[in-house]
Amino acid sequence: MKIGILTSGGDCPGLNAVIRGAVLKGIAVHGHEFVGFLDGWRGVVEADVIDIPRSMVRGLSKQGGTILGTSRTNPFENGGGPEVIKANMARLGIDALIAIGGEGTLAAAKRLTDAGLRIVGVPKTVDNDLDATDYTFGFDTAVEIATEAIDRLRTTGESHHRTMIAEVMGRHVGWIALHAGMATGAHAILIPEQQASMEQIAGWILSAHDRGRAPLVVVAEGFVPDGQELAHSERGLDTFGRPRLGGIAERLAPELEARTGIETRATVLGHIQRGGVPTGFDRVLATRLGMAAIDSVVEQRWGTMVSLNGTDIVHVGFDTALGNLKSVPQERYDEAAVLFG
Ligand code: F6P
Repeated sequence: MKIGILTSGGDCPGLNAVIRGAVLKGIAVHGHEFVGFLDGWRGVVEADVIDIPRSMVRGLSKQGGTILGTSRTNPFENGGGPEVIKANMARLGIDALIAIGGEGTLAAAKRLTDAGLRIVGVPKTVDNDLDATDYTFGFDTAVEIATEAIDRLRTTGESHHRTMIAEVMGRHVGWIALHAGMATGAHAILIPEQQASMEQIAGWILSAHDRGRAPLVVVAEGFVPDGQELAHSERGLDTFGRPRLGGIAERLAPELEARTGIETRATVLGHIQRGGVPTGFDRVLATRLGMAAIDSVVEQRWGTMVSLNGTDIVHVGFDTALGNLKSVPQERYDEAAVLFG
């Protein structure tokens, strides 16, 4: 078989490990051939492909980013659609597609599968917000990077007796904030799923300060303080029409400084959390998912994605996997909140 691979949506450490796992297993066990579509669905719509020989994936599991490039192109727009993609696949002699991406990518893959295309999915997001998989690769790396950075903020905060606010990724959910906040002993963790008023946050800060600690606040970029309208739309769109994210830490800092009387600094970690080498955990998870995607193709499980269930890799239908974001459950937040203040 000739299999096409694409990586789509925001990048994330571990994408290359998926490609390597799929290619090595596909060649070694089944004698498949591989091509890569460049820049996500754009490459599929425009038939922009490169061959992926075995030599190309050598040593790839530790490499950040994606050798195929990525984009947020919608395959149904800009001259795309199922008929164009079917024709491209037939012309290139491609039998099946492995689509590696998050909710948006897999939702597009589902629509294309419903239209008769042979596609299997591999879930990806640093935010860890995809339902039907226990963890997504990239998340562990993001938490490691955030933890390392926040530990550093803590020592400078302690030297100056300041409140430090660290903003981490998490547009809709607070998994990175929860884990990095627990790992670093934050005095407050602020996430989109949980309401917290400025008064409450200031209370946590003052309580830490009163015990002689330099207060540390970890906030997810999608957090909205109780009673304040701070919708993403208010931050405007970039030139490509994408919402501008981030900036909540800088909004919180002056207000919390005024309320507490403690000098306060904000740091936005941003895309650093998505760059560089994946952790060992993410390399193994991504490699196993890539290998399992080959099983999905061989077993003709079109319209499914591979996923982590406990320690097992299983196959889940797009129907089941998509539609609900995996948010932080109340009990996980309450568990962390015992340590606040
Ligand atoms: O969806 C993953 C994510 O990393 C979000 O946490 C973040 O808000 C967004 O991507 C950033 O996207 P972009 O790469 O387009 O700036």
